[in-house]
Amino acid sequence: MSRRRRSGGGHRRLQDTYGRRAKADGFPARSVYKLEEIDLKVRLFRRGQRVLDLGAAPGSWTMYAATRVGLEGRVYGVDIQEHRAALPPNARIEVLDVHDLQLDTLGAFDVVISDMAPNTTGVRDADMYRSYELFMTALQVADRVLVEGGRFTGKIFQGKEFPDAQKAVRERYGETRVVRPKATRDESYEVFLVGLNKLPVAPSAVPEEPPAPEEPAGSEEPPASEGGPERG
Ligand SMILES: C[S@@+](CC[C@H](N)C(=O)[O-])C[C@H]1O[C@@H](n2cnc3c(N)ncnc32)[C@H](O)[C@@H]1O
Repeated sequence: MSRRRRSGGGHRRLQDTYGRRAKADGFPARSVYKLEEIDLKVRLFRRGQRVLDLGAAPGSWTMYAATRVGLEGRVYGVDIQEHRAALPPNARIEVLDVHDLQLDTLGAFDVVISDMAPNTTGVRDADMYRSYELFMTALQVADRVLVEGGRFTGKIFQGKEFPDAQKAVRERYGETRVVRPKATRDESYEVFLVGLNKLPVAPSAVPEEPPAPEEPAGSEEPPASEGGPERG
């Protein structure tokens, strides 16, 4: 997908309009309209769903998702920064690094969304790579907590690692999309990779074959793998 770089004041005025609209609609960030566009394109959310929002501050995506899933649904967001959103009772955001999530006890989610972005340094390749790393972390979190058939959306800067990220999404989801929402700033390299219909077993969820234990000399015990549980 080629990045559109439009010049002139017209598009910049449109960008400013998103900022004003977010303020008027009570959202702390204009990025809410990116999620809205993705949602309108692929129907990310349904009422009653559980949503995990990675990189949730200042809180616009969490607010939007909470409205879409309704009070019978739940949204849990994490970010390394404090949020500043007026959240409804079915949503919360914790100050937490995505790498510190306790995935074994987190529970299951129907949708995982990630708007995580690194602090940019201006060194283009380094920024692209850090964005790729955050994207892959989000994808791996989804491997662990997203239900089969679930939906994933993650932000990534479109650099040379982008094809690898796209391939990783294709391996895990029945259908994939690349979306560059209209609310994205002209100068931004970001796009969103969407995975629909999570497949039963994600590649990274298949455990590595452990090394065979050495048999003590003269042992009568059968090898550990015999009669053990099968990997599914
Ligand atoms: C573009 S902002 C998210 C905006 C948010 N979706 C909203 O609508 O309000 C990107 C966020 O990613 C967060 N972030 C970056 N690295 C992170 C990490 N390792 N763990 C959690 N959040 C991270 C940043 O702190 C930042 O708040």
